Amino acid sequence: MTPGPSARSRITGTGHYVPEKVLTNRDLEARVDTTDAWIMERTGIRERRIAADGECTSDMAAAAARRALEAAELSATDLDLIIVATVTPDMPLPSTAVFVQTKIGARPDCPAFDLAAACGGFCYGLTVADRFIRGGARHVLVIGVELLSRVVDWSDRTTCVLFGDGAGAAILSATDDPARGLLSMTLHADGHYASALRIPGGGSAEPVSERSLALRRHFVEMNGREIFKAAVKNLASASLRVLEDAGVSPSEVDWVVPHQANLRILDAVAERSGIARERFYLNLERYGNTSSASIPIALDEAIRAGSITRGQSVLMCALGGGVAWGAVLMRW
Ligand code: UT7
Repeated sequence: MTPGPSARSRITGTGHYVPEKVLTNRDLEARVDTTDAWIMERTGIRERRIAADGECTSDMAAAAARRALEAAELSATDLDLIIVATVTPDMPLPSTAVFVQTKIGARPDCPAFDLAAACGGFCYGLTVADRFIRGGARHVLVIGVELLSRVVDWSDRTTCVLFGDGAGAAILSATDDPARGLLSMTLHADGHYASALRIPGGGSAEPVSERSLALRRHFVEMNGREIFKAAVKNLASASLRVLEDAGVSPSEVDWVVPHQANLRILDAVAERSGIARERFYLNLERYGNTSSASIPIALDEAIRAGSITRGQSVLMCALGGGVAWGAVLMRW
């Protein structure tokens, strides 16, 4: 990557990939003590996608990336940087990003790294990519991808009904167009909530052992209520912050493409932020919570469907494990 003039960044292409296999709430009724009615009422989720045996995180990421490159009319060799936001990497070492680099045919000298900010990952990724663009990079690939079905405890009804697999990607490119691009962004984290959403086993704090496996420590654990409250408060304040920074009022927001975790969270965020609820683009009914992938999947769907049109303001906001959260405002 060679330094060039500082510029603003703009998304020039998006893509997404979700596995074919659909797991419905009805299917889950056969696995754990739950009902379609409970899941719909408490979350808004009806079904989610599950990766095929043998399919891994970098496969899904590469599929989404190829679609984003095609939409941006770029080749993988045009990329100056690859950022993969994920908490479900192919393996602890090396990064998933290097597998994506080779799978899509990017240059072997293209820098590539993973970024772990859980559900906040795509907002973090866009913000980091924007800084690289301002520092001289021309095209940066940002991917949000999760294969949560492999780390979910399928015997725990409080978590297994929530999550799904998928990938979304965006190409951020340098632009001189003052009318379009990323306008403002904000990132935050509060480690006091670290134990509210985590996979406690399998890392350096609790290496894999027969005991950790027996105690199911390598699966997702969540205090849903604590995360719910943190999400409502912080998503609303981060959203208002990026609007204020860009001089855009809540009534001027054309679209909110939020992290898709729970409909009730988004109802509350709409109420607190003063952004009309019908401006929120939603697809969690079909995919569940895909963590860092949820915003780029929804963004790509909304763009391809023609819902988001040129010149419209689009607000993205997400909060997840950490807790880590952020918001990004752009003009499409
Ligand atoms: O993406 C990262 C961020 N994650 C989130 O944003 C998730 C945030 N949290 C949430 O979305 C919600 O807290 C949940 C959907 C996870 C849970 O909804 P809730 O309304 O907070 O339910 P709760 O945890 O307070 O549980 C209420 C009841 C409990 O029963 P008791 O103790 O009242 O008898 C649970 O055992 O619902 C029970 N329950 C279920 N019942 C049927 C929990 N899960 C289920 C289930 N089916 N799947």
